[in-house]
Amino acid sequence: MQVVADVKEMQRLSEVWRREGKIISFVPTMGYLHEGHLALMKMARKKGDVLVISIFVNPTQFGPGEDFERYPRDMERDKQLAESVGVDVIFAPEVQDMYPEGYQTFVEVIEITKPLCGRSRPGHFRGVTTVVAKLFNIVKPHVAVFGEKDFQQLQVIRRMVKDLNMDVEVLGHPIVREKDGLAMSSRNVYLSPEERQAALRISRSLGVARELVAQGVREAPEVLRKVREVLTPDEGLKIDYVELRDPETLKEVSHINGPTLLAIAAFVGKARLIDNAIISPIEN
Ligand code: PAF
Repeated sequence: MQVVADVKEMQRLSEVWRREGKIISFVPTMGYLHEGHLALMKMARKKGDVLVISIFVNPTQFGPGEDFERYPRDMERDKQLAESVGVDVIFAPEVQDMYPEGYQTFVEVIEITKPLCGRSRPGHFRGVTTVVAKLFNIVKPHVAVFGEKDFQQLQVIRRMVKDLNMDVEVLGHPIVREKDGLAMSSRNVYLSPEERQAALRISRSLGVARELVAQGVREAPEVLRKVREVLTPDEGLKIDYVELRDPETLKEVSHINGPTLLAIAAFVGKARLIDNAIISPIEN
C-alpha cells in the first residue's frame, strides 16, 4: 500500500491504471477510520481492480464554530486499517495543496442541499461537492462508494455527478451500526458513557417509527411526534431536526404512502450525530 500526498502523482498513477484498462474504485473519507468506513472499502474492493481511498479533513465543509480543528485524526492507525482491507493507495493531500492561495472555484447543488443538514450547516454541502469533484478529478475513479448514514450527502453527490456528466458510478453502502444500534461515526469518540446512552435513543426512535408505520400509522406529524418523545425524555439530547422526506427529491412528506426517509440530527454533548432510515409501508 502506498500513501500519496502529491496531487500530480495521484493523477499520474490513476492515468497509468486507466491506460492499463484497470477499474479504479474509490472511497473518500476524512480519516479516523472505523468499521463503517472499512465496510465501504470492502464493497469498493470488489468493484474494481485498484482501490484508492482519500483521507482529507476538508476545511470547506466545516462552518465557523464547528469541529474542524478538533476533528479526530490518527494517520498511523488509519494506514493499518486501510491495509487490512486491501487498499492500494491512500491519497492524503495537505490543505494548502487542495486549496492553494488564490483558490476560488466551488461546486454547488442548489435545491436538495437546502433542507436538513443544509439548513443547519450553511455552506456544508458546497464544501462537500467541491472537494468530491476535486477528488474525482485527481483520483479519476470509475466507481465511488459513500455511506448511507450521510443520506443527503449521497443524494447531493448523485445529483452533482448527473448534472455535471461526471463519468463515475456512485454507490451507496447501508449504515453500519455498533452492536447497541448506534450508527458508526468518527464523531462517536466525542461521547462520554452517559452521552452514549442518550445517543442510543436515535437508533431506537427509528425502530419506533418503523413499528408505528407497520401498525398502520401513515400521518407524518403523528410519527414525528412519537419519535421526538423517544428522543427527548430529558435534556441529554437536543434535537436539530427530525423529518420525513421523499428519499429522491428530499421534499417533505405529510403522508407516508411509499418508501420515506426519516432523517434525524441531534446534539449529544459536543457531538452532532445524524442517522436515518427508509421507512416503507409496503415492506412492513
Ligand atoms: O463523508 C465524508 O467523510 C466527507 O463528507 C467526504 C465525502 C469524505 C468529503 O469530505
